[in-house]
Formats: sequence, structure tokens, C-alpha cells
Amino acid sequence: MKTEGNNIALSVENITKTYPGVIALNHVSIDFRQGEVHALVGENGAGKSTLMKVISGAISPDEGTFVINGTSYHKITPAEASEKGIQIVHQEISLVPFLSVTENIFLGNFIGNGVTVNQKEMRRKVKELFAQLISQM
Ligand SMILES: Nc1ncnc2c1ncn2[C@@H]1O[C@H](COP(=O)(O)OP(=O)(O)OP(=O)(O)O)[C@@H](O)[C@H]1O
Ligand SMILES: [Mg+2]
Repeated sequence: MKTEGNNIALSVENITKTYPGVIALNHVSIDFRQGEVHALVGENGAGKSTLMKVISGAISPDEGTFVINGTSYHKITPAEASEKGIQIVHQEISLVPFLSVTENIFLGNFIGNGVTVNQKEMRRKVKELFAQLISQM
């Protein structure tokens, strides 16, 4: 549902995405305002993940646009979406088996100077994170 108003952080406008034999999203429009918490509910195959994949740049829509903090996109790269604050926890989480626990935790977000990875700092942060989790048990 689209409504009028200010403070719109993300606006989805008329997004359509088809796969062979199925219309996953059929002219979907919705606004999300700053500070709101939404739950997207629908039966299996309703198109929830497809919508999330469009706004996070994993897939491109056939039609439509979305506006993030005033900038309009037809499609976006995952890196741009992440930079714009669109962060996704995917339904099916994959670990990279040949990377360490620390590297998996920091996947896509390694600490470093662009040339080398600062493993020591990443391990320090993971220990801090685990200590925080354990203190809440
Ligand atoms: N990569 C793909 N190739 C072909 N069809 C796809 C693909 N991804 C999704 N679909 C189809 O698009 C429709 C929407 O799928 P989507 O995964 O977005 O649904 P969902 O609401 O997230 O479902 P669930 O509750 O099962 O997670 C479904 O009919 C699905 O089979
Ligand atoms: Mg899904």
C-alpha cells in the first residue's frame, strides 16, 4: 500500500519481476518511512524474497523503480545497496567452508586497508562479540 507523506526512507514503485512461467512481483508499490518496522507476510512463493532481492541488488526488476533516501534506481548493485543501508539476512544462509569462523562472520565486510586483511583486528572483534553473547546467556 502506498500512502502520502514525508520521511520516506525507501519507496518501491511499480516493481514487476517475472520468471519463466510465473509473475513473482506484479506492479508492487510500497513506502517505508524512517523508524518504521515492517513485516512482509505472504504464502510460499508470494514474492517476499524476490522483493528483498530487488532492493538489495541481487536481482534486477523487469519494470519499476525504487527510491532510497531520495535517489531513484531501476536496478542497484549489491555494493551500492549496502552502502545505502540496505542490509539483508538471507533466508538460506551459506557459509564459505574454506574460510575461518572469523572470516565467515566478516564476509563482505573484511577489515583491512584494501590490500591486506587485518585478521588480528577481526579476531579481536569476534572475541568481543562472543563475550557479549555469552554475557547475555
Ligand atoms: N530464480 C528463480 N527462478 C525461477 N523462479 C523463481 C526464482 N526465484 C523465485 N522464483 C519464483 O518466484 C515466485 C516468488 O518466489 P519468492 O522466493 O520471492 O517467494 P517467497 O514469498 O519468498 O516464498 P517463501 O515463503 O517460500 O520464502 C515463486 O513462484 C518462485 O517459484
Ligand atoms: Mg522467501
